[in-house]
Amino acid sequence: MNIYLDYAATTPVDPRVSKAMFYWQENHFGNPSSLHRAGQRSKIKLEESRDLIATELGCLSKEIVFTSGGTESNNLAIIGACLGNRNKGNHIITTSVEHPSVLKAFEYLEQLGFEKTIIKCDQNGSPDLQALQEAISDSTVLVSMMYVNNETGIILPIQKVSEICRNKNIIFHCDAVQAFGKIEIKTNNLFDLLSFSGHKIYGPKGIGGLFVRDGIALETRSYGGGQEANKRPGTENLIGIVGLAKALELMSTRQNEFDTVNRLKKLFEETLLSRIENCFITGSESDRSPYISGISFTGTDNQSLLLNLDMQGIGASVGSACSSGSIKQSHVLQGMQLAENLVNSAIRFSFGRFTTEEEIKRSVEIIEKVVKKLRS
Ligand SMILES: Cc1ncc(COP(=O)(O)O)c(C=O)c1O
Repeated sequence: MNIYLDYAATTPVDPRVSKAMFYWQENHFGNPSSLHRAGQRSKIKLEESRDLIATELGCLSKEIVFTSGGTESNNLAIIGACLGNRNKGNHIITTSVEHPSVLKAFEYLEQLGFEKTIIKCDQNGSPDLQALQEAISDSTVLVSMMYVNNETGIILPIQKVSEICRNKNIIFHCDAVQAFGKIEIKTNNLFDLLSFSGHKIYGPKGIGGLFVRDGIALETRSYGGGQEANKRPGTENLIGIVGLAKALELMSTRQNEFDTVNRLKKLFEETLLSRIENCFITGSESDRSPYISGISFTGTDNQSLLLNLDMQGIGASVGSACSSGSIKQSHVLQGMQLAENLVNSAIRFSFGRFTTEEEIKRSVEIIEKVVKKLRS
């Protein structure tokens, strides 16, 4: 029996999403930019999908830009807004626990002459807001902070940081990839830029989007036929967009799923803690999303843990997925200043729509055996 506990890396596509995409692929192939009937049919579907996402986020349809996913959205948001607002300053701020697509965008901007401040987080995963406020200067142009951390599930203080940015007239970007659809998000006056992705909510990979508040100057990262209001030109990935919109529509019952996953995560964590000595839940004191559980089993190393769990049919992960498939110790846990033995023995388990109680109980038994073996 295979038990998939890696929903934060990606989710299986919901069969209802596949069906919607398949129907569209089989029946309508027109380019939304074509003026004939087939094109216009696609254009209508494209705009309906955009409207659905805008309604979910409580924003205008024209504020949604489709991209290839969270990575591209983060790059477009951060680099695009900084270059588009260069006249306002060259200082940018983020935290030590962000996704590489944010941290690497910051590094790139640094090469272009921007100055960056990376705010440290404490052992509960909370960024030092005092340090953030002190770091702000007249030249600060953008702050980027994620909504839910992808390795620990910790929810960051988005509201407070948004207020700080509003008071100082600083652009606020939020990487909401792990929150979108799962937690109700309204852009209201909170965000200027917000990234999301389809494959974390049972949609297809390679599709996502960016909320860009009307009036925020954004320099495009690519040049072409002017689609997506010139912010992200290129023929739209309509099949992916149909899938993303359908996946989001299915998340309208999110509270049920949230409650079930929360119950399963509690069961998982409580039974693990009661059966295995010296295991530690990252951010156990913090407000966390129920979808993710980061756990360290001291006295083991996470590479062996992962391989042994995989041999026993459990799919989990360590740190962020790396294209080389190799393990790199988590910059997130290091960014929370956790001790080395906690970092090196940390595994991420993540849950979702198709996780069952039986899988949770079975996986706890397997994890207990594997940890015992590795510690002996
Ligand atoms: C917090 C966060 N940001 C960004 C991304 C990147 O999203 P995508 O895989 O759609 O490029 C991920 C994916 O793991 C993520 O968890």
